[in-house]
Amino acid sequence: MGVMDGVSGRLGRRGGWSRGGVVIAAVLLGGCGDDDGTTPLQGGPDLDQELAGVLSTQEVRPVVPPAAQDPRLVELGRNLFFEKEISGRRNISCGTCHHPLLGSADGQSQSRGQGAVGLGPARRHVDGSIFLPRNTLSVWNRGVAGWDTMFWDGRLSGNLTDGYVSPAGDATPQDFSSALAAFSIIPVTPDEEMRGFPGEPDVFGNPNEMADLTNDDFAQIWPLVVARAMGVEKYRAELLALFPGTAEADISIVHLGEALGAFMIDAFTMLDTPFDRYLAGNTDALSDAAKRGALLFYGRASCSSCHSGALQTDFGFHNVAAPQVGTGKGDEAPFDHGLGRVTGVQSDRFKFRTPSLRNIELEGPWMHNGAYASLEDTVRHHLDPVAALSAYDDRQVEPELQGTYQQNSEELLSTLAPELAVKGDPLKDEEVADLMAFLSALTDPRSLNLMHLIPDSVPSGLPVAD
Ligand code: HEC
Ligand code: HEC
Repeated sequence: MGVMDGVSGRLGRRGGWSRGGVVIAAVLLGGCGDDDGTTPLQGGPDLDQELAGVLSTQEVRPVVPPAAQDPRLVELGRNLFFEKEISGRRNISCGTCHHPLLGSADGQSQSRGQGAVGLGPARRHVDGSIFLPRNTLSVWNRGVAGWDTMFWDGRLSGNLTDGYVSPAGDATPQDFSSALAAFSIIPVTPDEEMRGFPGEPDVFGNPNEMADLTNDDFAQIWPLVVARAMGVEKYRAELLALFPGTAEADISIVHLGEALGAFMIDAFTMLDTPFDRYLAGNTDALSDAAKRGALLFYGRASCSSCHSGALQTDFGFHNVAAPQVGTGKGDEAPFDHGLGRVTGVQSDRFKFRTPSLRNIELEGPWMHNGAYASLEDTVRHHLDPVAALSAYDDRQVEPELQGTYQQNSEELLSTLAPELAVKGDPLKDEEVADLMAFLSALTDPRSLNLMHLIPDSVPSGLPVAD
């Protein structure tokens, strides 16, 4: 079935990637083009030579896929991912917000959280349900080694060797086999996301035993979530079978995280894009427009000073002055200070983690608050943030958030990233089109319809659909 195909397909391609390095090296031996990058190349071998030179200088290499996951763990994780039983009110699952048909996100500028009904752009608030403060991140390729920083503001981080840091502080479990597994145990804890608010019963009208805790009570919340899973016989049996040697009383949130992590690695690792094929040595995999776009991206347009490497991220934090629109976050609302909230450092204000641009066409609206409904507008914003802020029209965000745009951008621009600089003349429309062609080449066609990931039913018997 589908999940298994994914595993074997990925293993099968590994040989292709290593061969690819050799092909690129061979192209390089042919010598670098002498073009300075300001005159668009027309195509053919010159374009490939020049691009090979740039990619080699910037160490853009084929991405090493994560190891294949145990198919039984993947299947357990798949059920848990779509399982509403692990949410306080039994009304929301990971899949509600990271939907396979919505770019592994939810198609809303900011996610309508706990208590809202419906899926994606059709999701609607009910009885005082609220927006989460940020745009839902996709979960593509999060199992690739080096993806050690999570969330728009990096408040989760770590890896297998150095351990994990999370809002749970000392209560953060450490015994995970992947970073993604470690990060999967956080979303069940916030009231506004999966846990639910006090006084609100579950879908059957029964009390929600997690509701009276606070978001910081990680160590109390996790056992209640585990008890929900263990209360369903199929999960209990599978967890005990998959972790032999673990006593029933020792099955913990770590084991649920392992399963969720395995599923996401298996389902959302998407490294067969035209760009990956090009990196693997197939020079026909990219159109000339995409090649010219790649040259701009890794060259004159300076995108790769932050969106670096083959995943297009330095995992660092920068302020690109995304329009301040929407709810904002915390005490600073209607602003969102991003990394500055986490570190308390003034110069970190408005900085967000550089997003990977893999499958970026599929995960709009874009930016940390979904400020832009068009990918091209998002790209153009980077080319001239000041002009983009004056022209910004907030009728493109969720109807309830319209009218929230903060025009006054002085403070926002005070920490603007210096790396945002096109070298030479401003990009012409044809060049922006080339950049867009390159971004399109970062889409793995297998991601376009992932219907097969959605189970027909889940062990609790709760509905899978939202
Ligand atoms: C109500 C919507 C919602 C639900 C339900 C939800 N998420 Fe998320 N998820 C988000 C949002 C929003 C973010 C970005 C949060 C931020 O950066 O502040 C996010 C971020 C993430 C990330 C980080 C990705 C990255 O690149 O940093 C992972 C991993 C993730 N979610 C996994 C899960 C899992 C696993 C579940 C179920 C246990 C889940 N999510 C449930 C909305 C949701
Ligand atoms: C100074 C570092 C930096 C440079 C240079 C830069 N970006 Fe970004 N980019 C970011 C950051 C940080 C974000 C997220 C900002 C936010 O949400 O507030 C982002 C967001 C994006 C997004 C939206 C991603 C999403 O998930 O919503 C796209 C698309 C994008 N950049 C493309 C580009 C292109 C194309 C260029 C070159 C023209 C470029 N960027 C140059 C740092 C940079």
